[in-house]
Amino acid sequence: MSDHVALITGASGGLGRAVAARLAEAGWRLALVGRSAARLKSVAPAEALQIEADVSTHEGARAAFAQCAERFGTPVALVNCAGGTLIAPLLRTSESAYRACLSANLDTAFFSLAAFVEGLRSAQQPGAAVLVSSVVGHIGVANHEAISAAKAAVAGLVRGAAATYAASRIRVNAVSPGFMVTPATASLVASDAAREGFARQYPLGGIGTPEDVAQAIAWLLSPAAARITGQVVPVDGGFTAVRPLVR
Ligand SMILES: NC(=O)c1ccc[n+]([C@@H]2O[C@H](COP(=O)([O-])OP(=O)(O)OC[C@H]3O[C@@H](n4cnc5c(N)ncnc54)[C@H](OP(=O)(O)O)[C@@H]3O)[C@@H](O)[C@H]2O)c1
Repeated sequence: MSDHVALITGASGGLGRAVAARLAEAGWRLALVGRSAARLKSVAPAEALQIEADVSTHEGARAAFAQCAERFGTPVALVNCAGGTLIAPLLRTSESAYRACLSANLDTAFFSLAAFVEGLRSAQQPGAAVLVSSVVGHIGVANHEAISAAKAAVAGLVRGAAATYAASRIRVNAVSPGFMVTPATASLVASDAAREGFARQYPLGGIGTPEDVAQAIAWLLSPAAARITGQVVPVDGGFTAVRPLVR
């Protein structure tokens, strides 16, 4: 039975862990993917399948999905939480940092989605994928040029693949989070002043959590979202859509 198998990449990261917890609660069987078996082991629930793989390449992504199919069945849900943060202006982004940023945020999305769709098509099953974009893929935020390019491209990938595979009943969506505190970003909000500075930028106030984003992802994978595809859903406290009154 693969009806309820979900594969999560970047499962050892802050968002990946929250998604795993939410989907486990919703009854999904989980295949958790990361590049470090030790990091995965430290966070994965005992019943989850742990897969050590780098999904930024065609070969790596296919190997991860093949392991899942062999041991758990073909996954019918994908959440690509693999990624990496880069805060740097254009003129201070080295070629290697740029390529690493595109690899972690765009290549993982592209090749995971390709391997996912390939498995579903050969099993002739419908399915749903959720990729992770970001507010910086939608509006200009200073010092985020490389990651803005990667996250805007993720939004393009969602729309293209959703169009191509709609007839195969494969839904493709993304969430677009604002700032969340995870192991990748905790150092940016180490002081109360920094935390308050971030919170003031969000019309709804405060800082969103990985759990907020995980709820939206679980919903996009559920039958409640059966008519939704090709969408990038902001989970950003109004950051990209709302200008509050300035007093
Ligand atoms: N935190 C934020 O404020 C924020 C805001 C908007 C969007 N996002 C996006 O949300 C996603 C998750 O962010 P996060 O804050 O949870 O980051 P994180 O804690 O650094 O988690 C990222 C995970 O991706 C894994 N990973 C990286 N490259 C990989 C690869 N090639 N193959 C497989 N796994 C890979 C890493 O694990 P290993 O190193 O062990 O492989 C890590 O577990 C990212 O796409 C990020 O851009 C985050």
